[in-house]
Amino acid sequence: MTKHVPVLLDAVLDALGDLRGRRVIDATFGAGGYTRAFLNAGAIVTAFDRDPHVAADADAIKAEFGNRFTFIPEPFSAMGNLNDKYDAVVFDLGISSMQIDDGARGFSFRFDGPLDMRMSAAGISAAELIASSDASQLAKILRDFGDVKKAMPIARALKDAAPTTTGALRNLIHDPRDIAPVFQALRIAVNDEMGELTRALDAVPGLLNDGGICACVTFHSLEDRIVKNTFREWTTAPGDPRMPSVVAAPFKLLRASTPSPAEVARNPRARSAHCRAVIKSY
Ligand SMILES: C[S@@+](CC[C@H](N)C(=O)[O-])C[C@H]1O[C@@H](n2cnc3c(N)ncnc32)[C@H](O)[C@@H]1O
Repeated sequence: MTKHVPVLLDAVLDALGDLRGRRVIDATFGAGGYTRAFLNAGAIVTAFDRDPHVAADADAIKAEFGNRFTFIPEPFSAMGNLNDKYDAVVFDLGISSMQIDDGARGFSFRFDGPLDMRMSAAGISAAELIASSDASQLAKILRDFGDVKKAMPIARALKDAAPTTTGALRNLIHDPRDIAPVFQALRIAVNDEMGELTRALDAVPGLLNDGGICACVTFHSLEDRIVKNTFREWTTAPGDPRMPSVVAAPFKLLRASTPSPAEVARNPRARSAHCRAVIKSY
């Protein structure tokens, strides 16, 4: 199986600066590419991942770095339960190459496998989501999370055929341009990706020390919009009439960047990535 190649890691490391002795939350462990780089730079890392398949990589890093590394096999929205303070919280969102390239996980229309799409072992699969939703709920998912234009006819076809494999789902979609958006929309809904991100970001200001940094790497416009708007709120001065709800603005924008053409050539998965980072500074 393809090992995940970290995306925008240099931009993230650049935003984080000197990591010696710094306490970092890696919200999305994946294959441990980011975590390993943070540990090699001298950080103390607490990592989350809700995918049980990453356990072997987490164990290997634990064996190598001992108590400088803690792995929490839970959704990253659980970071709100941590009682410590940290110097950085990093998100590298979306799915890993290991997940998309494993046909048995049901994420990809390039393989025929069970229509699962769960990152974690818990919750309902994409096939169960289709079975338990009505056509208008499915059409809303397709519109909101995939910007699918013919959402209602596709939703009705999903209800009629009740696909249980990725191949069957793919065959139901007549316009090839709709295939990737339909798969994306179902995956986002199955994993409550927007809810997870919103809840985790809500916890970040309370977790960070003064001078602490939050960096997010996003892969599509929906999650990037959540990050961009949240960071705008955090960096808006109180009293700004454009954002009357803001009561404290301890953050400053550090950077916003996209991959270089060389990185995209090396790793096509990087092509839609954005890195945004803010620093907490009173
Ligand atoms: C793009 S990969 C991260 C790759 C990692 N930075 C690396 O260098 O190997 C995203 C990972 O985040 C995990 N993930 C996504 N959403 C999550 C959530 N809400 N809670 C916990 N893990 C999540 C996925 O299971 C996946 O393993």
